[in-house]
Amino acid sequence: MPAMQPVSPQEVGSDSGIDTAASRNESAGSPSTTPDTEISPPDSPFTPSERLSEARQTAQKKLAALTLDEKISLLTACDFWRTKAIPEKGIPSAKTSDGPNGARGGIFVGGTKAALFPCGISLAATWNRDLVHTVGQHLGDETKARSANILLAPTVCLHRHPVGGRNFESFSEDPLLTGKLAAQYVRGLQERGVSAAIKHFAVNEQETLRNFTNAVVAERPLRELYLRPFEIAVREASPWAVMSSYNLINGVHADMNPHTLQDILRGEWKYDGTVISDWDGLNSTAESIKRGCDIEFPFSKKWRFEKIHKAIKDGSLTVEDVNQAAENALTLITRVRGNDMSDEPPEREDNRAETRALIREAGAQGMTLLKNEGAILPIDPRTTTVAVVGPNANRAVAGGGGSASLNPYYTTVPLDSIKEAVQEAGGNSDIAYAVGCHTNKWLPVASPFCTKQRDGEQGVTIDWFAGDKFEGSPVLTTQHKNTDLFLWDSAPVAQVGPHWSAIATTFLTPTSTGKHTISFMSVGAGQLFVNGKEVLDLRDWTEEGEAMFDGSIDYLVELDMEEGKAVELTARMTNELRPVSKQKRHNSTHRYGGCRIGFKEEDKVDYIAEAVAAAKTADVAIVMVGLDAEWESEGYDRQSMDLPFDGRQDRLVEAVLAANPRTVVVNQSGSPVTMPWADKVPTILQAWYQGQEAGNALADVLFGKKSPSGKLPCTFPRRLEDAPAYHNWPGENLEIMYGEGLFIGYRHYERVKVAPLFPFGHGLSYTAFEYGRPSIDSKVLSSEAGSTVEILLAVSNIGEVAGAEIVQAYVHDEKSRLVRPEKELVAFEKVFLDAGETKHIRLSLDKHAVGYYDPAIGHWIAEEGRFDVLIGASSADIRRTISFSVEESFTWVF
Ligand code: BGC
Repeated sequence: MPAMQPVSPQEVGSDSGIDTAASRNESAGSPSTTPDTEISPPDSPFTPSERLSEARQTAQKKLAALTLDEKISLLTACDFWRTKAIPEKGIPSAKTSDGPNGARGGIFVGGTKAALFPCGISLAATWNRDLVHTVGQHLGDETKARSANILLAPTVCLHRHPVGGRNFESFSEDPLLTGKLAAQYVRGLQERGVSAAIKHFAVNEQETLRNFTNAVVAERPLRELYLRPFEIAVREASPWAVMSSYNLINGVHADMNPHTLQDILRGEWKYDGTVISDWDGLNSTAESIKRGCDIEFPFSKKWRFEKIHKAIKDGSLTVEDVNQAAENALTLITRVRGNDMSDEPPEREDNRAETRALIREAGAQGMTLLKNEGAILPIDPRTTTVAVVGPNANRAVAGGGGSASLNPYYTTVPLDSIKEAVQEAGGNSDIAYAVGCHTNKWLPVASPFCTKQRDGEQGVTIDWFAGDKFEGSPVLTTQHKNTDLFLWDSAPVAQVGPHWSAIATTFLTPTSTGKHTISFMSVGAGQLFVNGKEVLDLRDWTEEGEAMFDGSIDYLVELDMEEGKAVELTARMTNELRPVSKQKRHNSTHRYGGCRIGFKEEDKVDYIAEAVAAAKTADVAIVMVGLDAEWESEGYDRQSMDLPFDGRQDRLVEAVLAANPRTVVVNQSGSPVTMPWADKVPTILQAWYQGQEAGNALADVLFGKKSPSGKLPCTFPRRLEDAPAYHNWPGENLEIMYGEGLFIGYRHYERVKVAPLFPFGHGLSYTAFEYGRPSIDSKVLSSEAGSTVEILLAVSNIGEVAGAEIVQAYVHDEKSRLVRPEKELVAFEKVFLDAGETKHIRLSLDKHAVGYYDPAIGHWIAEEGRFDVLIGASSADIRRTISFSVEESFTWVF
């Protein structure tokens, strides 16, 4: 569907052919009814693109020179991140990097520094296609700086439920918003010669047991919701790679699913790219190759090599199948590397001023002002004093956890950015601050208290042994800064072999005397010693925690410690797979290893009383609450929508509000949180996770340097119990029933008439906007290929300051044979307006704006009848309505 374009007022002449009479000011509300007649509509013409890409032609030529073994070797990565090179046949290797809010490079923790962009939901909150396109281009450059060629991004699975662990890195609950932004992201990246690997295909909306659960989803929601972002991105941006998901879809794993991969992606959509597996997400030999999952990541001997020969022998696979997959693999490699056989350069940093400015701008544009009674925001720092309190105020909460995380060039801390802004404006920068409460899910890493020797440089020393018995002398010794020592991608396997043991030693010096707490979490078998005495034996741990790659829960030890007196901590660990019961499932005894050591000194203050005292000193109290990368991460879902934990953040907000009625709550999270105080607090700003410029972007908005212009890409319900998937989350017996069908997000709240706390598409500005009467160029959408109806609409900034409005268009189908949501987003446009300025917006709607998928005929259908276009400032704030018709039903496939 063509995008809406802003047009100048001059373009809208009286002879524009626009029919203003079709416009109505009220929104239509007639319920859908089912006509009696069966219809059998004609198909609209469908012309698949048959043109072979140049890369594919080159790939075919190279393929012809390969032996069967060489072809097979291309179907598995050669290490954790790279495809296999065959130098003697002119085939280079292509390197991947995570994605999606930056290009991390090859090391998971503490790798090369990289630009950290706002997370997916924050980008989506900008609703700004151009901005996301530019972000894609910058991410392309960042990927190249990490010497990588494929960014494992964007994440386009939908927000089915507010507590989804990866909602933060995905865009939205709406498939159109997600798909349109994903297309721009992919375009930006690929314009820089870097491949996207759009993920995770498909129906991967939860993290709980993600590798094993079967998503049971009906055909309509599959097509109209979950596949739709991929479909839009394939149509509009042709991503060079697609990453399959871990889960099963209707009984078959996604990496070998005939319906999604074969019938739809390769069949109906004629996808001409390459499918890669998610990491450790391959589940078969012959089936995955036949269905079109071409490259397995990372390197593994589990499914390919010999097994492929065997499958060819027993007839379950043909040489042609292998040829096709190898050709697809080569097509991707050729697209990103061409014939470049030069060595991969080392990763480098590329910390650019333009990227920093873009990230700051993207942050401000994503900032979503939910409430601003009494216009407390923006704050004039010259005349108004502020106090800053809250667990997220004096630390950088810049992103969510898991594979989206990286080592940022720098971070900005809200408290510092606020102080700087106040100082710059000549205000009183002596700002009262108090933490208010701590929200750590796990104890903070012990690293800041840890030195390699009894004193001196911060760090940890690891002695590595070959074999899992700590035998002989160490094979090598490595130095680390952090006591977060998940070593799954950085164990020196080449030197120590597949079975290893290691001893990590560090010295921990407390800054106070008291009963302090040390925590220990182990991936494989582990033991913790304090001054040579064993305090925890986790050699046979059984209780799995939420840490990403298979760690135990966090075990705590309380110790009486003295200020300034170091204790020696020793962690002994092996990569034996734990719990032992998993060895059978993984068909192996050894896997990843590592541990995490945390530390916290005894609490001796009343944090809330401190925050209340601080709040009383100032004209405005800013309370920074929220989640962080521990609470929101790949690997697990949240257990609750409440702010963590035990109600302490809610108590903090209430106490501060009671002390200072001019309270601004800033919430940082990548998904909705319960806000029991929302009706009482005058001002609420949703600040997401905004990457390395989070603090500065926040200060820009708080003090009015920029007007916030984000709108919610997901509904904020009042209670988790109101959410559509509540009864079907996270499933049972390894089955997730997508029982809410088509009705996720606003589609549900509208249908059941449950008012959410803040509706989809909602967001305020420091100015106000007025919508003119829309006009339409034709009252009929024809079935001819490429037909559109064009709607024009004036938007004015009627306030005192510049700002941006996001105009949203929803379609309401007056009558349809099958049930449809009350309204569905079909177009949107962000328009920037100076105070007093008016611009015209063009909304272009085509068949995709009116179609739904009818499983009975196996096609999309635009049904004859009237469609209302509801134009508004949010899904619940419809300002104008205009209608058009489809005169004769028609259908299509893609
Ligand atoms: C995640 C992917 C990620 C990959 C590599 C997987 O566990 O699901 O999104 O790209 O790891 O880190």
